[in-house]
Amino acid sequence: MDLQTIKQYDKQYFMNTYGDRTNVMFTHGKGIYLYSSDNKKYMDLLAGIAVNALGHAHPTLTNAIIEQTKKYIHCSSLYYIDTQAILAKKLVENSCANKIFFSNSGAEANEGAIKLARVYHKKKGNLNKYEIITLEKSFHGRTLATIAATGQEKYHKHYDPLTPKFKSIPKNNIQALKNAINENTCAFMIEPIQGESGVNPLDINYVQQARKICDDFDVVLIFDEVQCGMGRTGTLFGYEHFDVQPDIFTLAKALGGGFPIGAVCAIDKVASFEPGDHGSTFGGNPLACAAGIAVIDTLINDNLVQSGNTVGNSIIDSLKNVMTSCVLIKEVRGMGLMIGIELTKPIAKEIKNKLFDQGFLVGSVGENILRILPPLIITIEEGLSFVTALENALQEYIK
Ligand SMILES: Cc1ncc(COP(=O)(O)O)c(C=O)c1O
Repeated sequence: MDLQTIKQYDKQYFMNTYGDRTNVMFTHGKGIYLYSSDNKKYMDLLAGIAVNALGHAHPTLTNAIIEQTKKYIHCSSLYYIDTQAILAKKLVENSCANKIFFSNSGAEANEGAIKLARVYHKKKGNLNKYEIITLEKSFHGRTLATIAATGQEKYHKHYDPLTPKFKSIPKNNIQALKNAINENTCAFMIEPIQGESGVNPLDINYVQQARKICDDFDVVLIFDEVQCGMGRTGTLFGYEHFDVQPDIFTLAKALGGGFPIGAVCAIDKVASFEPGDHGSTFGGNPLACAAGIAVIDTLINDNLVQSGNTVGNSIIDSLKNVMTSCVLIKEVRGMGLMIGIELTKPIAKEIKNKLFDQGFLVGSVGENILRILPPLIITIEEGLSFVTALENALQEYIK
């Protein structure tokens, strides 16, 4: 079906929450490239917003999904599921977590984490510990509880009254955290590297001090690793950069490499869900977990976390090099392949469109920030070709 017809259907039948979509429809992908219905090739540096860690049509992931589909797609978690148990084991063996619960998305994983923190305190007899502290400029999802957790007002519009007992504090401000904690505090939930607000890694000292404060006040420390987990930042999990371990961390996005799956990963101390406390029809289904196994196996077996880190560092270094002579770049931030480029002028969308015209897919955050989250299989040459394209696109705006 041609793009015009699809656009008509979309306008007539779809509730548009995504605004003006980019004028393209992709028909297929291979590696880090997507191909459009008008036969153009695009380097996908957004990877479905940090989802396609293995790129497109990766044979291991594709085969795992096909093979599982031939066996069975769904089976209730009322029965034992081999892929579910195996994926849980792999996540535990490669992280600080001892127990896993599977969801279908990032928001749902965060809901699970919030519920788990509350259940932990309830079961300890801390009946009044129900408040969750989060950070300003955070993003935790689009469900009612996770928008309340999200410290950005634009996501709250129309949803008053918000789910109660969430409050956001400024990041990297330890005094603000101390002031916010009281006898009702249940958990402190943070993205160690904030993604949706434009790639903002938290200070290492801050995170380490926060860990200590959470220990002192029996506050559950939750890391939302929906975007920064699964090798995105050069370590398998974001928390590894900070030399601390969270009590709970959440995953989604890259965990299924494009197939929807999320996970609540908890250390034994807080892993207090028992039968009846939580559940999901689709969460942890055989197919999603088969995809998850293929992703984690490939990340580890093909050394993609290390190679992604090397490429990410090259891109960051080379962008910083461009910055020294280009007045339009204010700051280059990021870790591994989670990279934000802050511009001095509000031209992020225009630059994004220019790059699109040249066959590069990148994201923009607000008016000044460009964000790239490429597949972990990207090579240095491919990464540097983006830097050159960006440099050229910016040239036109230098007066
Ligand atoms: C850090 C973080 N948490 C949660 C979410 C929500 O994930 P999902 O869209 O899968 O519900 C996102 C999505 O961008 C995210 O970046």
